[in-house]
Amino acid sequence: MIDIHSHVLPFLDDGPDSYEHFKELARQAVSSGVTHLVATPHHNRRYENPKDKIIKHISHCNQYLKMKNINLTIYPGQEYRIHREILNPQKENEILTINQGNYLLLELPPHEVPDYTNEVIYELLLKSITPIIVHPERNKELQNNPSMIYEFVQEGALIQLTAGSVIGKFGGNVKKLASRLIDHQLVHVLASDAHNIHTRGFCLDEAYKEISKSFGHQCTTYFQKNAKNILENKEFQIESPRHIKKRFFKFF
Ligand SMILES: [Fe+2]
Repeated sequence: MIDIHSHVLPFLDDGPDSYEHFKELARQAVSSGVTHLVATPHHNRRYENPKDKIIKHISHCNQYLKMKNINLTIYPGQEYRIHREILNPQKENEILTINQGNYLLLELPPHEVPDYTNEVIYELLLKSITPIIVHPERNKELQNNPSMIYEFVQEGALIQLTAGSVIGKFGGNVKKLASRLIDHQLVHVLASDAHNIHTRGFCLDEAYKEISKSFGHQCTTYFQKNAKNILENKEFQIESPRHIKKRFFKFF
């Protein structure tokens, strides 16, 4: 199983603070069925984790996993907190796309949606970077106005839900919104966003079970295929936003 969003690397952000905790988290990933894991440390908020720093760290961590006989491969990535100057030439070389391909995890602030969000999506796409908006179901403004998520998709962004949201770990309202977004085909991929083994662990397997139960096995296959395509930097088919729009506004 492929997981494209995690905070598994030690010492870089609010993930593990020791190699011991990194090892425990990596073991939890393996026991939940993850084989390919993208490490996506936060960048440009409380933490500064530019491209070069992450790549160097990943190579050490993969060596460590081999030494400990943990059957998990970690790939480079980054969770980039949105800002207006993201493509400023001085900041541009800090960006680390998933496995150095064309997809970037883009994080919004937890409570609002900056008024330049669509502009940033457009600018990234012009540079052949497809932004993946992470966990919109946990953003307060989007919870109150979920139609904005449709606008992001129409603009060309992809949407990633957190696995924990699907199984109710962030409360009933978040679970309900996650479910509606899937129902309206506004979700492209699922990921764990794992931080630690206790409160924010790996539960992608449980989330996929829930999705198969509620939406059918084909829906799980679609998300898993997209995760693979993102990691391998391939394109995939997205349902026409025009088709989504009609159904979406009917419900929101
Ligand atoms: Fe994250």
